[in-house]
Amino acid sequence: MDHFSAANNCPVISDKNFGDCIYADIMETIDLGIVVLGIKKQEIVFKNKFSTNIFQDSGDDLGYRALLTLLLPGFGKDPVSEVFGKFNTLWYKDRLLSYTAYMGSDRFIWIIIRDITEKRRLESIAEAVNSMENISYVFSGIRHELGNPINSIKMTLSVLKKNLDEYSTNAVEKFVDRAMTEISRVEYLLQALKSFSIFESPNIQNIKLQDFLIRLISLVQSDLRESGIKISKVIDPTLEAIEADPRLLHQVMLNLITNASDALDNRENPEIIIRAENINGNVGIMVEDNGCGMSEEMQTNLFKPFYTTKSSGTGLGLMITLKMVTLMKGKMEINSTRDVGTKVTVFFPEGKTDAQS
Ligand SMILES: Nc1ncnc2c1ncn2[C@@H]1O[C@H](COP(=O)(O)OP(=O)(O)OP(=O)(O)O)[C@@H](O)[C@H]1O
Ligand SMILES: [Mg+2]
Repeated sequence: MDHFSAANNCPVISDKNFGDCIYADIMETIDLGIVVLGIKKQEIVFKNKFSTNIFQDSGDDLGYRALLTLLLPGFGKDPVSEVFGKFNTLWYKDRLLSYTAYMGSDRFIWIIIRDITEKRRLESIAEAVNSMENISYVFSGIRHELGNPINSIKMTLSVLKKNLDEYSTNAVEKFVDRAMTEISRVEYLLQALKSFSIFESPNIQNIKLQDFLIRLISLVQSDLRESGIKISKVIDPTLEAIEADPRLLHQVMLNLITNASDALDNRENPEIIIRAENINGNVGIMVEDNGCGMSEEMQTNLFKPFYTTKSSGTGLGLMITLKMVTLMKGKMEINSTRDVGTKVTVFFPEGKTDAQS
């Protein structure tokens, strides 16, 4: 774009129709949100497809007021230099947005929005690579995961505080709901961190395989049944016991079953099969599902902390699971085919035959 018309600083293309057409196409396909607000008439003058997709509330597009309150809560109150030309970030419905607003004359505000959710996640994964050896990386990731919702809660509450007298009960309720959603994210993360028993040394014992698996299945069965998932077990009858820490093994199996159950969401005839077989002198316990499976690329990321494809996942589950299996001197293997299913196998030494359950 090397020609600009002096009048309006717009690029000049000799064929006007071609020009209009191509700019409209670019606006609609670009992976940036562009919103133009008209201040005088209090209307949205322009909103491209990307921003329409982001700013929806239960299927309805956000209007002028809602967008202004969400993106520029300080508009009309704070000094112009604090509101415009600044780099802002905001969590909105599971997406992390970065945006900058500009004031064009005193009639229009335009806002350029980027979705940086994936970028941030990839950065945190890159940061946390090798964290199996260096736990401080895990903590930096946790700090980051907690930091985002807390910032967002802080921002939501400060907007609310500033406008407490002006807002209707409905509007107040919306802000409170937004803060509550963020608090749930924090709660969920804390819940996941409970399984950070990886710091303790394992207590390896003989575990009676049949009894252990029967007890485990009876524990998860009713929840799975509610989601329409069938669970069964196929255990080699010649196997009696394995050597592992019962508490850690229990957690390992729960993590794997939870992942299998998540992968079965909206699948036909969802089923989990737990198998136990003798494989090359060790006992392999398998959690097999006929769920969504994973592409090869997804499988390379599996054990990286914070790698998740779930909107409410922490991406710590498999990393912790692998750590627990390794602590018990076991091994873990994953086989998965996209749209077919996944089989996760954990290997442990065979136990003595006079084992306790
Ligand atoms: N059985 C499975 N089938 C398909 N994908 C799976 C399966 N198990 C794991 N995954 C993929 O691996 C990702 C990482 O799993 P992991 O257990 O580490 O985290 P999560 O389940 O996303 O979150 P969390 O366990 O913390 O709730 C999942 O988000 C999912 O994409
Ligand atoms: Mg998981």
